[in-house]
Amino acid sequence: MDPFALYKISYGLYIISSLKGELLNGQIANTVTQVTAEPAQVTIALNKLNLTHEFVKESGVFTASILSQNAPMSLIGTFGFKSGRDVNKFEVLEYRIGETGAPILLESSVAFLEARVVSELDVGTHTIFVGEVINAQKLNDHEPLTYAYYHQIKGGKSPKNAPTYIKEEESTESSGEKYRCKICGYIYDPAVGDPDNGIAPGTAFSELPDDWKCPICNAAKSEFGQCGKYKCKICGYVYDPKVGDPDAGVTAVTVFNNVPDDWKCPICNATKTEFEKEE
Ligand SMILES: Cc1cc2nc3c(=O)[nH]c(=O)nc-3n(C[C@H](O)[C@H](O)[C@H](O)COP(=O)(O)O)c2cc1C
Repeated sequence: MDPFALYKISYGLYIISSLKGELLNGQIANTVTQVTAEPAQVTIALNKLNLTHEFVKESGVFTASILSQNAPMSLIGTFGFKSGRDVNKFEVLEYRIGETGAPILLESSVAFLEARVVSELDVGTHTIFVGEVINAQKLNDHEPLTYAYYHQIKGGKSPKNAPTYIKEEESTESSGEKYRCKICGYIYDPAVGDPDNGIAPGTAFSELPDDWKCPICNAAKSEFGQCGKYKCKICGYVYDPKVGDPDAGVTAVTVFNNVPDDWKCPICNATKTEFEKEE
């Protein structure tokens, strides 16, 4: 099976929100689909580990805010890479409480809907919730954000909890210029830059201001590691981040900088310091 064939499926990006008592939470999802018109029903697929899953399952309600193309990466970072178990995602955002009692994110959204869960389907890692739409409203005429735009233009990534996650997506490119955030997996690509934060395409990682932060998870520059292969100067073994060193517990997609300091060359036992970047 070619997992990249699945990349050809089109999606939008949404904030799914729900509540538990007085607590509010929400998460990014790309899996909102309208499945019937009369009555209007939508499905969402939520990972069972997500706090939002717990809230939707218990409250039986959710809202979906349809994100705008100009939604900042920091918003996607907060809702897509952090859990409401660790942060209060709605603390500083513009939202309102809808008819269901669940929050509706208003900023960076072009429209929203509110739904009551009418059935659910266990699909392993995720639950598909079917919601009957009880309210919906258009907010403006901005372009909705598509999954393709998020990946291709904004340079965004998807975490493991996303149903569309493909491990290879985090693989590194042979170009030595790209850097990966070890917190969220975002790859800084000089060809793309970080236009949301005033970094023009063509800006090398080393030229980024010292106070530049990961546009997704806000991690410091020091949390980034250089993508690419590293070669052992002693025996010629090449460490490839795509492969890692599973025998030594280094999983695939680990950039060389993030390999533990006491890791040794699997061929000749040389230390990490004996490796040099392969051009
Ligand atoms: C682009 C993108 C798409 C995502 N799509 C989904 C999705 O459809 N379903 C899902 O369960 N998680 C999805 N996620 C992951 C959740 O948003 C993420 O795990 C979130 O941190 C869960 O937060 P919570 O624990 O506060 O609910 C996606 C994340 C991103 C960045």
